[in-house]
Amino acid sequence: MRVLVPPDYRTLSRTASELVLKAMRTKRKLTLGLPTGNTPLGMYEELVRSYREQQIDFSGITTFNLDEYLGLQRNDPHSYRFYMQEHFFDHVNVPPPNVHIPEEAGRYEEQIREAGGIDLLVVGIGLNGHIAFNEPGSSFASRTREVMLAPETIANAETHFQGAPVPSRAITMGIGTILESRCIILLASGASKADIVRRALNGPVSESVPASALQTHQNVIAILDEDANPDEE
Ligand code: PGA
Repeated sequence: MRVLVPPDYRTLSRTASELVLKAMRTKRKLTLGLPTGNTPLGMYEELVRSYREQQIDFSGITTFNLDEYLGLQRNDPHSYRFYMQEHFFDHVNVPPPNVHIPEEAGRYEEQIREAGGIDLLVVGIGLNGHIAFNEPGSSFASRTREVMLAPETIANAETHFQGAPVPSRAITMGIGTILESRCIILLASGASKADIVRRALNGPVSESVPASALQTHQNVIAILDEDANPDEE
């Protein structure tokens, strides 16, 4: 695993965006796995800025989001589809038919296969070690499926939902699906993540820490800002 430790969140976001753009230059019809949450917001801002300023062409890209809540309306402002439109897709030229959000588990794996597999997948890490919505205890062989969210995940989502009820179920790409990506970028920012980053990257590989599965992958780049870097503590 390569570990990059940019000094701050802004540099983390730029570094992640540059890696995505570099992969796009290498392969025009790139397939991306994309995260939501607070951590990737800066990366999306940088990608949108590159599109505006340098006319980077996203028309060859196909995307698969990592997860989506169940039980929300398609246009619910708390849904990850809404988040992706608001922060990324409304501002760049990814063709809408190339955008995939796992609102139903059914054909997602097949669609990923039909797209030639995921070239580059970007993922965050939850405070409990989840990657996408693969909560502690998820099998490393798991595929895209419906899951129950962990109580701490629901509690953490309450700020984002601003008083609206947080769904208890979601659809997530599996850990097995994530591990089939050719390259994985793990993003972590802030001191609250340092402890779980340490367990995920340096602790035992265990289903009790889903992100520790990344230790078994040959091509992972972890981008940790200084606060999230356990070696800086
Ligand atoms: P965050 O979420 O980026 O909002 O911290 C990360 C995650 O739960 O995967």
